[in-house]
Amino acid sequence: MSTTTRTNDAPLLEVTDLVVDYRNGRRSYRAVRGVSFKLERGRTMGLVGESGSGKSTIGRAILGLAPVTDGSVRFRGDELATMKRSQRRALSDQIQVIFQDPYSSLDITKTIGYTLAEPLNHHERLTREQTHQRIRDMVRRVGLPEESIHRYPAQFSGGQRQRIAIARALIGNPTFVVCDEPVSALDLSIQAEVMNLLAELQKSMGLALLFISHDLSVVRHISDDLVVLKDGLAVEQGSAEDMYANPSHPYTQSLLAASPVPDPQAQAERRRLRQAAAAGSHAPTQTPTLERI
Ligand SMILES: Nc1ncnc2c1ncn2[C@@H]1O[C@H](COP(=O)(O)OP(=O)(O)O)[C@@H](O)[C@H]1O
Ligand SMILES: [Mg+2]
Repeated sequence: MSTTTRTNDAPLLEVTDLVVDYRNGRRSYRAVRGVSFKLERGRTMGLVGESGSGKSTIGRAILGLAPVTDGSVRFRGDELATMKRSQRRALSDQIQVIFQDPYSSLDITKTIGYTLAEPLNHHERLTREQTHQRIRDMVRRVGLPEESIHRYPAQFSGGQRQRIAIARALIGNPTFVVCDEPVSALDLSIQAEVMNLLAELQKSMGLALLFISHDLSVVRHISDDLVVLKDGLAVEQGSAEDMYANPSHPYTQSLLAASPVPDPQAQAERRRLRQAAAAGSHAPTQTPTLERI
């Protein structure tokens, strides 16, 4: 379970048969029951499922914030689950996270400039002027005015605060970012703006994302691949394109039918799927392109 296979062609992230048990005294609850997926550099994996299906637990296990009871989590071939604290700390410039609620993840007593300088202090030797330049560049890249660096989190809207959390996650040039429902607390119109920003930064910075959402319509545009989670199990996984065209598991079909899309053609396809599901028949039976578990 804890072998290290350091090869150059190892996937960026490889989760294999991951099991997570939460223990509370003598009681134990299995939140993740054997989930496997791979994520390559520069790609986006969408992790979708209803509330309580174990999405955040998977993200937290990867980040070392939830126990890996069984299975393995490898980053560039190195086993994260059994890694020493010091080794993991050394990886923290590579692996970052954006949470749902930027207000609780940002320090309200610190200016934005201070918050953005912190990751740079930890990981890189930069002159004062280089640090300031990096901060100003990052603030601009997330679409905020430069003078934001002198202000505090409370002086921004929810969407702006999430832009700040994105800036903080990305300023150290990570290769992999866990995004746990990063737009779920935002108004719909703001969600689209922040998603577009994330998609743009993902491309321009070559980031690999694990994008967690309960809402399939949020992840559909950004994801290359999808894992559909239900009760701690991956019920369907594969390329996002194939899954939208031909969801094979009834649960994926219902998730798909439940999330509204602005595209009328897609909407009509959804309607057809919903009707097919209601009639008890399954969606199109073309060559199955998805791996079913
Ligand atoms: N710290 C914890 N201790 C015990 N059970 C937990 C803990 N965190 C989450 N759970 C349970 O694990 C399951 C999965 O939770 P979570 O991963 O947060 O789901 P999701 O992110 O998909 O909504 C839920 O039933 C939840 O109640
Ligand atoms: Mg969650």
